[in-house]
Amino acid sequence: MIILKSAEELAAMRRAGRVVAQAHALVRELVKPGITTWELNEAVEEFLLKQNAVPAFKGYQGYPASICASVNEVVVHGIPSKQVVLEEGSIVSIDIGAFVDGFCGDSAWTYPVGKIAPEIQKLLTVAEQALFLGIEQARVGNRLSDISHAVQSHVEAHGFSVVRDYVGHGIGRQMHEAPQIPNFGPPGRGPRLKSGITLAIEPMVNMGGYQVEVLADNWTVVTRDKCWSAHFEHTVAVTDEGPVILTVL
Ligand code: MF3
Ligand code: CO
Repeated sequence: MIILKSAEELAAMRRAGRVVAQAHALVRELVKPGITTWELNEAVEEFLLKQNAVPAFKGYQGYPASICASVNEVVVHGIPSKQVVLEEGSIVSIDIGAFVDGFCGDSAWTYPVGKIAPEIQKLLTVAEQALFLGIEQARVGNRLSDISHAVQSHVEAHGFSVVRDYVGHGIGRQMHEAPQIPNFGPPGRGPRLKSGITLAIEPMVNMGGYQVEVLADNWTVVTRDKCWSAHFEHTVAVTDEGPVILTVL
């Protein structure tokens, strides 16, 4: 069942979204060659707690940290580690979720570490564009899979692939609510979008094939062919005035 949010509930989600965006602004400044993903996790966790926000990932199905930090061929759910030192030319996808006043904000962004190769920059640009094209479809009267289709067609037109095994999701009092939002598929399918629906739209875009596998730690998702991958996510409200991105400053 898709849970519609009232204006008051959307205001709380906006507060959660703002804190998540502020945490991303912090990460953007910190990402540099030499920093570890553990240090990024510590900085974000400290910031969230100072804002009276509750990290959404820590303890979720046993997940051990407040952010996911996924380097290069890691697609999502990379566990922050003192052993993972960011290197010039790499990319790192940072996923952050937080609860404020009982509502969740969830956003991911892929950051370059120093100077990156042009073909890697192209991956980031296309994946970010795919997110915004998906958000553009989060309109009253559209169907859910219009989002999926917009993402997939843009990504594949540029020769990249979309991950099938992980999807976006409804979000609210729970980090994961109905509906699931695949990043592929034909348009015009699934539930019709109504005002008050809140969605975490999150394309995961691979340079090579779409296939992924989970490492022995049971969290880290990597591409099967070890080609690099990008992940961009915003929490968005469907409103009568069009899509409203909640995870912004
Ligand atoms: N943004 C991811 C999601 O929507 C983050 C979940 S990671 C977990 O599923 F550690 F919390 F599982
Ligand atoms: Co999410």
